[in-house]
Amino acid sequence: MTDFELVERDGLARLGRLATPHGPIETPALLPVVHPDPARQAASPRWMRETFGLGAVITSAYITWRSPPLQAIARERGIHGLLDFDGPIMTDSGAFQQHAYGSVEITPQESLDFQEAIGSDIATVLDVFTEPEAPREQAAEGLELTLERARAARAGRKGLLAVPVQGGAHPELRARSAEAASRIGDVLAVGGVVPLLEQYRFVELVQAVAAARPHLAPDRAVHLFGAGHPMTFALGALLGVDLFDSSAYIKFARRGALLLADGTVPLTGVRERICECALCRERPLTDLGELSAGDREVHLARHNLLTSAEEMARVRQAIRDGTLWELVERRATAHPALRAALRSLLATPELFLPTEPDRRRAFREVSAESLLRPSVIGFRRRVEEYRARRTTARLLPAVPLRPEYLSWIPREDREGRPLEWVARTPMGEVPVELLETYPVGPFLGVTEFESPRRAFPVAALRALLEADPSLGTDRGSRWQADWDRVQIRALLEWRYGPEIAGRLEISRLKVGRSRRTQRVRWIESEGRPLWVVGNDGQAHPTYGGAEWLLASAPGLVPRVTVHPDAAEFVAAGRSLFSKFVVRADPALRVEMTAPLVDPSDRLLAVGRLLLAPNEMGRMSRGVAVRITGHARSPPDLELEPEPLPLDG
Ligand code: GUN
Ligand code: ZN
Repeated sequence: MTDFELVERDGLARLGRLATPHGPIETPALLPVVHPDPARQAASPRWMRETFGLGAVITSAYITWRSPPLQAIARERGIHGLLDFDGPIMTDSGAFQQHAYGSVEITPQESLDFQEAIGSDIATVLDVFTEPEAPREQAAEGLELTLERARAARAGRKGLLAVPVQGGAHPELRARSAEAASRIGDVLAVGGVVPLLEQYRFVELVQAVAAARPHLAPDRAVHLFGAGHPMTFALGALLGVDLFDSSAYIKFARRGALLLADGTVPLTGVRERICECALCRERPLTDLGELSAGDREVHLARHNLLTSAEEMARVRQAIRDGTLWELVERRATAHPALRAALRSLLATPELFLPTEPDRRRAFREVSAESLLRPSVIGFRRRVEEYRARRTTARLLPAVPLRPEYLSWIPREDREGRPLEWVARTPMGEVPVELLETYPVGPFLGVTEFESPRRAFPVAALRALLEADPSLGTDRGSRWQADWDRVQIRALLEWRYGPEIAGRLEISRLKVGRSRRTQRVRWIESEGRPLWVVGNDGQAHPTYGGAEWLLASAPGLVPRVTVHPDAAEFVAAGRSLFSKFVVRADPALRVEMTAPLVDPSDRLLAVGRLLLAPNEMGRMSRGVAVRITGHARSPPDLELEPEPLPLDG
């Protein structure tokens, strides 16, 4: 039914492609609200596409229908003819007008028939707009009526159908609405939130989306009605919103306000050339006073579109880069209401953890909220479990520990009793052997730049340790081999858990380290690399590693089972598509590298997961796993996912 494909992701945030009869919409996307009457548009859809790359728009089918001349043109030439635009056009049903004016003359059936007749690419059900203040009973009634209309609409609609998700401020109704809408709609449109956006009630806004989020089918595009201020885009995307629509660019222009990603600026106060975009180079903001009120409004509206389009592009890039949390934290400084919303989300890590990636390229501390990100919460929980399986560890002196220091840290005390060590980090106490692991490994925080701590010499660490009479430091730097074993064991246990790690013959494994930094770069056996360790400090199996693993712990290793129809393609290195996933072990996580097997457990390939196990198979389109090594690959290609950094 549906045509939404996931291309890339950062947690719940998605980079996707929604296919429509007039071409795909690359998401997250802003669909500017355009008036159906071209004479009343501040910018034409064509111009928006050509100038800002905004490829899709939304317009009101209801306003079109209500105006006899517009209705006549739309019936004759279609909505694309009326708007003179051949890109994707979504139409809204009139629910918002019903809310604003108390009633509309159109019936739900008429609204749908009209949207169908004018060739809307995405038609919207005439829902019951539920106010955030609506009492439970009223919200529940509105919700059931919306669903009834949605079912009737589905019966008569072949094209894409947007089903609004209502429920007001009642989380259980939002959840029910999301789940029911997922069985009907192609686009799931969270509605009833305009008052929250207008009044900066962003905590309630994110809670409404968060309540719906786990119940929205992963293979549908998610729309957020009315979110048009660019400072909200990153936060919306973080919650998995794919489509944003808004008339904010015009509404703020009417009030003489500039929309920027970091807030709203009244034009009257602008005395400096604070923007040098193409629009401003032609006509600086400081000169807009010379224009007539109407021309000024058009100019401002276009400027607002530009900053909005730019911010949406930044959001998409951040999803590609895995830096969306950083962008959200930066944007949250635009307004305390946004920061409050972010904090309220941080209080519910369970929302994010199921799709939280196992790794990202970087972790930069941006704000006071950085160390509360779900990746940190998840990491700390796993560290607690890991530590619970060990004897009490000794706390290492508070020094910045670099990998080359390891060999100087004794593994036994003077009496020959084994020592476990933990280091104090901004993410809490972490066993020394896990210090390279994401997120603590790539962590770049403020404290590193505050003092000469970075230059702490090995000799100083030695001096500190030697000052402790209970330690067996007399072996000098000869603890390397012991640490190698500890690290191999830790990396494999971190990846596969204690049971599987316990079955692996660790004595047959060796680590390869970067010559420059002494970081573990791979784990090998008899010269054959079995795991590659990236900057995320995690062990990613090569094809050979997966063979070794499956042979050592048959039946136990978390893996993805591939449908026989796709087995040969996967074995030849082609991506595994979601619809060919027979089963995915729930212990797998997004971004992990896992073995792919056929139903008889024959190894086909290893690959990196784009989807969480509970999403695989539920996405009808798109890639589930990108292959990083396969049966028929030349041996050195097996060294992906990270190129083997032999000396650095
Ligand atoms: N526009 C803004 N909010 C809404 C909503 O809740 N439903 C519909 N159909 N359109 C909207
Ligand atoms: Zn400008």
